[in-house]
Amino acid sequence: MKEISKGVYYLGLHDYDRKIFDQLVPLPQGTTYNSYLVRGSEKCALVDTMYVKFSSAYIDMIKAANVCPDYIVCNHAEPDHTGVLPQLLSLFPNAKIFCSPKCSENLQNMLHIPADKIEAVKDGDELNLGGKTLKFILAPWVHWPDTMFTHLLEDNYLFTCDFLGAHYTRNELWADCSSELAESAKRYYAEIMMPFRSFCAKYLARVREIAPKVVLPSHGPVYDNPEFILNLYDSWTSPSVARKVVVPYVSMYDNSRIMVDYLAAKLRDAGVNVVAADLMEADEGELAMELVDAAGIVFGTSMVLTGPHPKSVYAAYLANILRPKAKFYAIVGSYGWGGNLSAPIDNMFTLFKPKNLGAAIAKGKPSASDFAALDSLCSAILAEF
Ligand code: FEO
Repeated sequence: MKEISKGVYYLGLHDYDRKIFDQLVPLPQGTTYNSYLVRGSEKCALVDTMYVKFSSAYIDMIKAANVCPDYIVCNHAEPDHTGVLPQLLSLFPNAKIFCSPKCSENLQNMLHIPADKIEAVKDGDELNLGGKTLKFILAPWVHWPDTMFTHLLEDNYLFTCDFLGAHYTRNELWADCSSELAESAKRYYAEIMMPFRSFCAKYLARVREIAPKVVLPSHGPVYDNPEFILNLYDSWTSPSVARKVVVPYVSMYDNSRIMVDYLAAKLRDAGVNVVAADLMEADEGELAMELVDAAGIVFGTSMVLTGPHPKSVYAAYLANILRPKAKFYAIVGSYGWGGNLSAPIDNMFTLFKPKNLGAAIAKGKPSASDFAALDSLCSAILAEF
């Protein structure tokens, strides 16, 4: 347990070995599960707890610090922050959980926490610990419907749960404000928060109103310079896009790659930042990061049997659920004997609706007419900037 300031302590643990989150998100640097203790003159409260994998280490830490929590604040029910709750409640049967009404429902469903152990709070409710007051701020959809923030009023510390976090694992508690941290926070934003961009912008404004002295998320470092992470979120959530096109592609016999390379070169000649990602190698996190500020997406794909390569369909599915700011998309590719290269990709866009700029599709090796189609597509893309 580390003291952050008088009466406020860090009880997080580092998971250096975790390689993937939610069986989807690669974790190049592992992650941390942050838990905090706030001690008032009369009561003490844990703010968020621990992933079940580290239950023993977490409980040992609590026992070693001689902590007997009166309250457990759950800012969000996802098990990386709540998995240890059943054990905590057996150990501290008088402890009461404070959380949002939706979180209460989730804790009962996901962990079978008895309803009488939980007190659901309203936005603005306060919990007095004696010289330390916790004020609850409901912040649904960053990133679950149950999320809330907890504001420690006397210290002006804001516990933001997953919001403003990073899968960034260093021994230092405080944010180093490095370019590595910015990259890690961007990856985290892209994978976890980007689908909720409008809510992120809304609660970013709320955080700015509060103007906390310290931001304490549930993953990654603690910010004693909140402007660092708030400014990054400003740029990621703003409606503006870069002069940038992301090109996820997969090519079986190089014909589709030739088309991708031709279009990419033409766009680059026109000053467009083209980020081509070979889907046989790219990880989802890198692709998501590139989508944060891209103006458009061009899918490059070979035909497999009667449709696009499954990796292209997956990339389109991923883009659809991540809901980036991209304004347009297009398809380029090649087929051997038949099939429909466009429809399965077009049909993926159900949650966000980038403009369809059409497709340039070659039969076999691209010929002069195919390059002319790519020239036209290039013009259509440039007209979007
Ligand atoms: Fe870190 Fe949404 O849990």
